[in-house]
Amino acid sequence: MQKLLIDGKKILSGNINISGSKNSALPILAATILNNHTTIKNIPLVNDILTMLNLLKFIGLKYKLSKKKNSVEVINRNKNVNTVAPYKLVKTMRAGVLVLGPLLAKYKSAKVSLPGGCAIGTRPVDLHLFALKKLGAKIKIKNGYIFASATKGLKGAKFKFPSISVGATENAILAAVQAKGITVIDNCAIEPEINDLINFLKKLGVKIKTKGRKITIQRSVIEKKISHKIICDRIELGTYLIGGALVAKKLKLKNVEPNLIKKEIDILKKMGVKMKVGKNFIEVYKSKNIKNINIETNPYPGFPTDLQAQIMILMTQAKGLSKIKESIFENRFMHVPELKRMGAKIEIRNNTAYIFGPCFLNGAEVMATDLRASVSLVLAALIADKRTKINRIYHLDRGYEDLEKKLVKCRARIKRV
Ligand code: UD1
Repeated sequence: MQKLLIDGKKILSGNINISGSKNSALPILAATILNNHTTIKNIPLVNDILTMLNLLKFIGLKYKLSKKKNSVEVINRNKNVNTVAPYKLVKTMRAGVLVLGPLLAKYKSAKVSLPGGCAIGTRPVDLHLFALKKLGAKIKIKNGYIFASATKGLKGAKFKFPSISVGATENAILAAVQAKGITVIDNCAIEPEINDLINFLKKLGVKIKTKGRKITIQRSVIEKKISHKIICDRIELGTYLIGGALVAKKLKLKNVEPNLIKKEIDILKKMGVKMKVGKNFIEVYKSKNIKNINIETNPYPGFPTDLQAQIMILMTQAKGLSKIKESIFENRFMHVPELKRMGAKIEIRNNTAYIFGPCFLNGAEVMATDLRASVSLVLAALIADKRTKINRIYHLDRGYEDLEKKLVKCRARIKRV
């Protein structure tokens, strides 16, 4: 199994190109089932994307991936496809469940493996199924699979999600695109990645309107040859911004859309992080006198749970007590015991972490437990004294494109062994 060896306390300096958003590309790839010829640009070359492409191929779509151009062409000219998402693909990547809506909408039936639990929480799919049932799907769960059918096609409906889910909102939109009549969905997630999906669907000709958390979709005929550029990965951007604040003389983050993380920029500025925000770049500098802060993760426009582990590293360097309340996932502090082994002073009570800073971090052997927890260990290792060995880094490869290459180019001492 591969590991990362990181020698800390090296001052970074240079440029990093921010990749396209993984969480935007995944539902858009699922949406290509609905179309016949789609080109997607700015696609991040990470393992979750390769898994989604494998899944599309398993279903019967064809794709041509240009690694050099970070673009992929997806072609679906099949009247009959294999409307199945097997366990072996969905178990490694929960977003596999996003093919359920488009398969059901276009081919009237789908068999998709239940994703099962995952390290950060139970992560059920009840909200996905709730929406599909409202659109007239018949759903049965058997042998670890969701069997969904709508023999006469889906029907538009008006409903409200009992709680907010990014994936369930995406699945519902993708199904509603081909449901007869009009669908009005309330209490939707409104993350920038959902907006990107909506913009993609509009290019296809879908009539779709949003107002606050309400989304209205009208059935549309949508077979067009289109090309779409994925938005920048706001979580990768936030991760390197925090990295720069911790350890860079000057780090220039390029190809970015700063408006996607306006609130996070404000929070970092409040903490004393020095940066210069341009139209499509952000420069960040190692900041002294970091101030403590209290944060709560929440659905967008709240603070993203996907940046919670990373900002915690900055909090270990802030003066005084900082708090983070994790309101999205029930078990998303798995990085904390590892950080404590590096010398961090953190206590967890219920769903809140109390971080006492500033504190000195030492290199240690640690274990990555999920995608964002893993990258927080990389950030900790960059400021730690001596060497940190990070085990189980396959999590990082699921979601961060060229992480070591990007950091090594900026003088970090990182080796994969
Ligand atoms: C997406 C992101 C993930 C991010 C998360 C929250 C992708 C590919 N992944 O995951 O990086 O951390 O949003 O911003 O875009 N829930 C239910 N029932 C359901 C679905 C969800 O109870 O049917 C719960 C979850 O357990 C969780 C909360 O709702 O507590 C939010 O999850 P959700 O927004 O669905 O996350 P994902 O779409 O899986």
